Amino acid sequence: MSHWTYHNPVAVHFGAGVLETLPKLLAGRKASIVTFPEAEHVGLLARLKGLVGDGLVGIVDTTQPNPDVDGLDAMYRAFWREQAASEVIVAVGGGSALDTAKALMVGTESGEFDALLALLATGKPFKPQRVKTLIAVPTTSGTGSEVTAWATIWHRAAGKKHSLHLPETWAEAAVVDPELTLSLPPGPTLAAGLDALSHSLESIWNVNANPVSDQHAVTAARMVLATLPALMNDLGNIDLRSRMSLAAMTAGLAFSNTRTALAHSISYDMTMHHGLPHGIACSFTLGMVLGRAIGASAGRDAVLARVFDVPLAQAPAELDRFLETLGVSTRFESYGVTAAESERMIANALEGVRGKNFIGAAGGAMLNPGVTA
Ligand SMILES: NC(=O)c1ccc[n+]([C@@H]2O[C@H](COP(=O)([O-])OP(=O)(O)OC[C@H]3O[C@@H](n4cnc5c(N)ncnc54)[C@H](O)[C@@H]3O)[C@@H](O)[C@H]2O)c1
Ligand SMILES: [Fe+2]
Repeated sequence: MSHWTYHNPVAVHFGAGVLETLPKLLAGRKASIVTFPEAEHVGLLARLKGLVGDGLVGIVDTTQPNPDVDGLDAMYRAFWREQAASEVIVAVGGGSALDTAKALMVGTESGEFDALLALLATGKPFKPQRVKTLIAVPTTSGTGSEVTAWATIWHRAAGKKHSLHLPETWAEAAVVDPELTLSLPPGPTLAAGLDALSHSLESIWNVNANPVSDQHAVTAARMVLATLPALMNDLGNIDLRSRMSLAAMTAGLAFSNTRTALAHSISYDMTMHHGLPHGIACSFTLGMVLGRAIGASAGRDAVLARVFDVPLAQAPAELDRFLETLGVSTRFESYGVTAAESERMIANALEGVRGKNFIGAAGGAMLNPGVTA
């Protein structure tokens, strides 16, 4: 077997009610809360203030879905001007709030977001001038952002997206409390759940896969396939919510080491130009991408076969059926994209950074060719 490395430094605290351990995790440190606007309405903000207690330096509760350079600019300046004294950011929300917190935690010398954007635009790693510690508390079960170092920062006006990824942007701790997802409405619950499925599969048909990421990915994908349809019919069921929180976090452990691949590469176009929520944009093509992945590598086929209860050759149609049954069309035409446009979009996506991680891409040879487990 070839050499490989798996690394994830995040301490995971999991279970219904585990949010109550926050004071112990903060251990007297000064903290800022970064959360989503509805947190006040669902009673979460008041609870968080109580848990952070006297160490509370400030609150940012104006995070927006799919954080964009436009909104981040003023938020970042205000954060570094008014809350520089905090040692820890307690980020509470979906992937959008967690990714916003990751952008805020990386401080530039000037305290201006422009300076961070200029560093991101180089696409190269850099050493932040100052940095806060992150405690990540997901309130959706999907992105796995609590156990990854990535943050997606959109720049719609420029038609771009940036990926922030530094050794400093891993959370110190992930506090995964499924009770916090009970207030999540059906649409975001479905989108988030499918994002987790996409993360699992994308880390298997990925040139960076290794036996540990595979193990997490197979477990997570099977859990989503078995749980999400039941959850959509019973959103108040804490057992099903817990299973989805575990699946999403486990999928995060998988793709934290592999990154994503073709389905996510296609999704960026679908979100930017066709307004699809991230979880739908990165999942409606999963059957099609699976069809392209099968046969690229016998070792990858063996791992993919462990995800499905039908023979692998039937799995793309089975995946399409799973999505359609949940009300997600698997056809580009349903989202206003013609067949010719979709072919162009897929070709472009294969050339993108994430597309090149796909085993079915030209030159997409396994970095760990001996890995079959
Ligand atoms: N960093 C990563 O590894 C990673 C991975 C995948 C996706 N993402 C990013 O995550 C974002 C999507 O995140 P998401 O799917 O978690 O959705 P989200 O964070 O955008 O949340 C969806 C909506 O639900 C609200 N909300 C969140 N939790 C709630 C709760 N418990 N109760 C009521 N309302 C709640 C939010 O305010 C928002 O309006 C995208 O921007 C995507 O690019 C990041
Ligand atoms: Fe995703």
